[in-house]
Amino acid sequence: MTTSRIPGFYNLPLDERLDKLTAAAGLTPGELAAFRTGGLSPDQADPMVENAVGTFGLPLGIGLNFLVNGREVLVPMAIEEPSVIAGASFMAKLARAGGGFTAVTSAPEMIGQMQVLDVADLESASMSLLEHKAELLADADEIDPVLKKFGGGARDLEVRIIEESPIGAFLVVHLIYDVRDAMGANAVNTACEKLAPRVEQITGGRVHLKILSNLADRRLAKASCTIPVKELAFETVGAGLVPAQGDHKGRPYTGEEVRDGIIAAWAFAAADPHRAATHNKGIMNGVDAVVIATGNDWRAIEAGAHAYAARSGRYTSLSAWGRDADENLTGTLEMPMAVGIVGGATRVHPAAKAALKLMGVKTASELAGIIVSVGLAQNLAALRALATEGIQRGHMSLHARQVAIAAGATGDRIEKVAAQMVAEKMVRIDRAEEILQDAPAHKETGRPKPKI
Ligand code: MEV
Repeated sequence: MTTSRIPGFYNLPLDERLDKLTAAAGLTPGELAAFRTGGLSPDQADPMVENAVGTFGLPLGIGLNFLVNGREVLVPMAIEEPSVIAGASFMAKLARAGGGFTAVTSAPEMIGQMQVLDVADLESASMSLLEHKAELLADADEIDPVLKKFGGGARDLEVRIIEESPIGAFLVVHLIYDVRDAMGANAVNTACEKLAPRVEQITGGRVHLKILSNLADRRLAKASCTIPVKELAFETVGAGLVPAQGDHKGRPYTGEEVRDGIIAAWAFAAADPHRAATHNKGIMNGVDAVVIATGNDWRAIEAGAHAYAARSGRYTSLSAWGRDADENLTGTLEMPMAVGIVGGATRVHPAAKAALKLMGVKTASELAGIIVSVGLAQNLAALRALATEGIQRGHMSLHARQVAIAAGATGDRIEKVAAQMVAEKMVRIDRAEEILQDAPAHKETGRPKPKI
């Protein structure tokens, strides 16, 4: 892909936006159709879940302007909330001025847990397990020949004694498994189930649970960015860049004010769990949107994110914001990122396959790096808005369109009704209905007034 900057994309009709994707990433007509329609037919959905009756649609948009590790990326985002895609794209544009996002990931190691009950002597059972570590790892290694072929497999075995629990003490075994480009749940769960009988022989106990941990804290992804301070002296209106409007003490925000406002907003989340939950929710707006668009398990990512945010014993921010020696704003986001590009819905869902092609990702680790970059951009978008004009202005103009549609507006009346509600600062369905009644369609379009 030559560039993820597509000026005017926002204003194009939907079909022309799809044409731009063909030009940028060589998507086939079938792949474009998958994006346009959601991709999954009822017949394809039927074998995926039980009692299927159809599919459930979500808007799919494109995060623009992303430069991740020097690579241009158009990011597919599936999300129903307005402002998210515009916010991420806008912040990615600011980040480009500082070189874009840098992303690093750890090895794709997942943790499988075995809970061993009814062990007579926990200390000596632990020692025995460690003495048999090489044998257990060799057994686990044979379980998934495909993963092994691609360089994955069992890496380590850890044993812990849980001293206190509602049922008293027991043993926990962690099997560390490199799952390469898979999300890994199936491989790890299978490995734990296969090892369990041998673990029982060695410990004399009974292996109760055998299941992967979603606190994937050995499979981390970290994104960082630097925003030149001068880039911050602007504000968002819709998805565009315009000079600040002067609604802050009668003058534009300076870059320094915005930078310090963002750092103060982050400090609130760093210190207070109630704020941290909302701050991290903003991060997950970006993260989940890409996770969903690529057919990955967003519940697993959510569980891992929030458990990781509480790893110190106190729930806190997943991101950190500060300033560098040149007075620029710096940001980082680190979180578990158990996503795959093989297996599961990633290879079955036509739109998910097209999404991976659009991003041109070759490894799960590359996908993880893009996802954390989007999460960081999304966090910046929220903090920047909150630290300046507040979240509602940008959000409301987009939300107003949904309210207008819900009230029955169609075609060009959607924008007109939305704009009037925003101007009146009254974005409500009853007001949208009133506006629609007061401004019949035939006056604007010449078409007969639609039934509302
Ligand atoms: C809304 O979906 C997300 C925000 O609340 C995030 C935040 O407060 O940082 C705007």
